[in-house]
Amino acid sequence: MILILLGPPGAGKGTQARRLSEGRNLFQLSTGDMLRQAIKAGTPLGEKVRRQMDAGQLVSDEIVIGIIADCMESKDCLGGFILDGFPRTLAQAEALDRMLEEKSCRIGAVIEMQVNDEELAKRITGRFSCAECNIGYHDQFRPPKQESVCDECGGTEFVRREDDTEETVVARLKAYHEQTEPLLPYYRAQGILLPVDGMAGIDDVTRQMNEVLDAVKTD
Ligand code: AP5
Ligand code: MG
Repeated sequence: MILILLGPPGAGKGTQARRLSEGRNLFQLSTGDMLRQAIKAGTPLGEKVRRQMDAGQLVSDEIVIGIIADCMESKDCLGGFILDGFPRTLAQAEALDRMLEEKSCRIGAVIEMQVNDEELAKRITGRFSCAECNIGYHDQFRPPKQESVCDECGGTEFVRREDDTEETVVARLKAYHEQTEPLLPYYRAQGILLPVDGMAGIDDVTRQMNEVLDAVKTD
């Protein structure tokens, strides 16, 4: 299955993509994670996107479409994949449709994660992740079981994202409302948009997602 998680910054896309990827054996493709890795590695791509990401603006369609096109050629994607953070503009959605058509594939479902802006700001500013395995935590909503020790890998180093500041959140939410929200009617019109209440707790959101996905007919 090809699954898209669509939702504003901080909605829980990364958190749920990781769970669904493990539970349903789907490969997780996160454009945000890939761009951050490029910045960390100091590649020319990383240099190109750093300023926009730090400012909370979207990077160019050309760049992210190129990244996804390359990833889709990988054998990891053969058994199905989850798109976390892509597409984010109509141009990206249309490019994805063309790429999938060429492979005679289609999108199985687009899950819309509904969370209000006030909650998003809280989730983003409290977020941190394990420097070793990248699993996400939250100061208040999902602290590690043992303080300062990663539940997954036992790592003791944690990092916060450069773009997780109060000022940048405003720009990221603006970009979402202006550039990404138009994808909701786009996918609704295709009958593949499945809304879930993203305001619920993490386990409850996973449960809702599995319920709506179990009801999707696959061919
Ligand atoms: P990206 O990395 O995709 O960031 P984002 O969309 O802003 O989303 P986040 O990763 O911040 O949030 P999330 O929904 O994954 O939430 P999470 O699970 O972490 O993109 C970053 C930047 O890259 C963009 O600004 C842009 O510059 C660029 N970019 C990326 N893709 C692009 C594209 N396609 N086109 C152009 N530019 C692109 O959860 C957040 C926090 O809340 C965590 O701490 C978590 O523990 C907690 N939490 C999660 N769920 C719940 C819950 N149900 N209840 C309570 N807490 C919860
Ligand atoms: Mg994310």
